[in-house]
Amino acid sequence: MGDKKMADYDLALQAVRARTDFKPRIGIVLGSGLGGLADDIEVVTRIPCSELDGFPQSTVEGHKGEYIFGYIDKVPVVLMNGRVHYYEGYPIQKVVLPVRVMALMGVEAIILTNAAGGLNTSFHPGTLMCITDQNTAFVPSPLVGPNDSKLGVRFPDVSAIYDKELQALLHKAADDLGIELADGVYLQITGPAYETPNEVKMYAMLGADAVGMSTGCEGVALCHMGMRVLGITCITDMAIVNTTFETSHEEIQKVANRAGKQLQKLVKEVVKQF
Ligand code: HPA
Repeated sequence: MGDKKMADYDLALQAVRARTDFKPRIGIVLGSGLGGLADDIEVVTRIPCSELDGFPQSTVEGHKGEYIFGYIDKVPVVLMNGRVHYYEGYPIQKVVLPVRVMALMGVEAIILTNAAGGLNTSFHPGTLMCITDQNTAFVPSPLVGPNDSKLGVRFPDVSAIYDKELQALLHKAADDLGIELADGVYLQITGPAYETPNEVKMYAMLGADAVGMSTGCEGVALCHMGMRVLGITCITDMAIVNTTFETSHEEIQKVANRAGKQLQKLVKEVVKQF
């Protein structure tokens, strides 16, 4: 042991490596209600986060919290099923630990998926959106604190968090599959409350197309590490109310379910073509 305390990500990586030497090429974070992909890969091994020291445990019902190692069409991948959110009470640095550890496993790219509310009036429940940029001004930065130069620089350039080539690949995959795909800006709020009508108005005025409670902080932490990131949002409901699109809760569930399946197909196709 050196004279310095090991960083939490080193301890976590060591704990993962004690369990498997699997070398994933792509990391995928599955958003709320988008866990279907976990049942649709050739699984090699699973590691519940509860068995990893220092790992945050998801307190959200239905969020399992595990790494799943396996193959999608012969491409080695690691899935994070059941991420933790800032609103659960963990410091933001802990919230991004699972994606930092994924990056340290040696993946070449990370795909972040999420469910979010729509702000762009041309969207509807079920719209899939390729994230082109983000706004995290309403959540703390995971980079606050002494800079860890093993991860990245003190003042990282965040002008292109979402990789342009991967965005093009996502659009090609969507075209190939005949799946409609929009582009847009994702804005992260802390949650857990949804938005008030005035907040919705404000976020839309700021140029955001979707609002959610995850992903942005992960994007910042991964950009800091120089990781290639792709982000895909599934619009599950229209946060903005002055649209002509009216629907019932049951209808939203149905649409979200269907869109979740489309998103699953899209992610698989991107991995295949990677
Ligand atoms: N706001 C924030 N997060 C969300 C929403 C929303 O409207 N819908 C799904 N996740």
